[in-house]
Amino acid sequence: MLTPDIIKKKRDGQVLSPEEIKFLVSRYVKGEVPDYQMSAFLMAVYFREMSETELLNFTLAMRDSGEKIDLSGIRGVKVDKHSTGGVGDTTTLICAPLASACGVPVAKMTGRGLGHTGGTADKLESIPGFSVELSKEAFFFQVNKIGISIMAQSQELVPADKKLYALRDVTATIDSLPLIASSVMSKKLAAGADAIVLDVKFGDGAFMKGLDAAGKLAEIMVKIGNHAGKRTAAFLTSMEQPLGNYIGNVLEVIEAFKILKGEEKKGDLRKVSVQLASCMVLLGGEAASFGEAEKKVLGALDSGKGLDKMEELIKAQGGDPRVVEDTALLPTAALIQTVCSDASGYVQAISAEAVGRTSLLLGAGRTKKEDKIDLSVGIILKKRVGDQVEKGEPLVEIRGNDPLKLNFCQKKIKEAYRIGTEPPVLSPLIPRIIL
Ligand code: URA
Ligand code: CA
Repeated sequence: MLTPDIIKKKRDGQVLSPEEIKFLVSRYVKGEVPDYQMSAFLMAVYFREMSETELLNFTLAMRDSGEKIDLSGIRGVKVDKHSTGGVGDTTTLICAPLASACGVPVAKMTGRGLGHTGGTADKLESIPGFSVELSKEAFFFQVNKIGISIMAQSQELVPADKKLYALRDVTATIDSLPLIASSVMSKKLAAGADAIVLDVKFGDGAFMKGLDAAGKLAEIMVKIGNHAGKRTAAFLTSMEQPLGNYIGNVLEVIEAFKILKGEEKKGDLRKVSVQLASCMVLLGGEAASFGEAEKKVLGALDSGKGLDKMEELIKAQGGDPRVVEDTALLPTAALIQTVCSDASGYVQAISAEAVGRTSLLLGAGRTKKEDKIDLSVGIILKKRVGDQVEKGEPLVEIRGNDPLKLNFCQKKIKEAYRIGTEPPVLSPLIPRIIL
């Protein structure tokens, strides 16, 4: 087998055999296929895409490129939940304790922030003492003991994706359906859960902006999961504006607490989190129907059992559980600025990507892997799409530690908002669920 022949075959739109795919992926990981050949292959995939069987084989070859986690030491049906990446998207911190409180063991490996999107591992580290760097033994032990643990994703998981993602980033091949699907699903399959709930974002702040493209991505990922022997479901959820009102690490933790405490009874973040948790409870076998699962989840929310589980999680991983009741114990930014509207009317749009990027500029995310992030900074939205606003009324509050950055971000955040005279037509929050 020769690498140029494999590239040529894909370039001409033919279907690669499982052997050819395995050859290419395994040799790339070993450094025997250079980046320039892989770049050509990725661009061929970008234009020619892959057949379903080919994509499944590609995903499995990636899954098999490194360590695979064996969760069989944990009792019960393990359900993983994954978001394709959003802004103000704190659903894990809400649905994980809720699903756990309903009897589903949650053994969650989670990532750090990527570009303008946040990561659960970083958010949890804003809780004083909380550690996400656990040994696998400690992780398993904790899930068996209290039903939940969240640890940083192992560095050895799917090395093929680490190399490919970095290459895609610099060869304009990130936004390819087969390449995203294989990247996400190879990691989910290697992480070892029995069932997978996917939250596929569409809209301004998502990788796949259009609803149709995101729907196709969701369908294909569900097929890959099911073919690989894991019960898989997917939600399509809107990233037309940030999901929650709090963006930035500690701020997102605070918003999750508010929802678990029942202080926030409405809002998109709560809605999506409840739906995702219900699906986890259904796939985890703790309910016979979606309706029954939803009832259980709302019960755990109203009774405070979800909040108790969050406290247990924090305590078990070395964090100070008093932060749940007293958020003043969490890191706080020194400076607060309010940004007001220049016009009266209705909020037409809030660019999730622009809000995410502004939060990144404030210091809440990384532009390089080595960057240290400022856990205390971020943005609080005071107005959402559809809200009426008067000239001079606050749109957002910015929290930061550097006056120069704060001033710059004040301008940037205004550009994220579009105000118009007519009430906008709202796009649905969860247009589709694939079960
Ligand atoms: N998330 C991933 O893990 N991979 C992608 O390609 C896109 C989003
Ligand atoms: Ca159970």
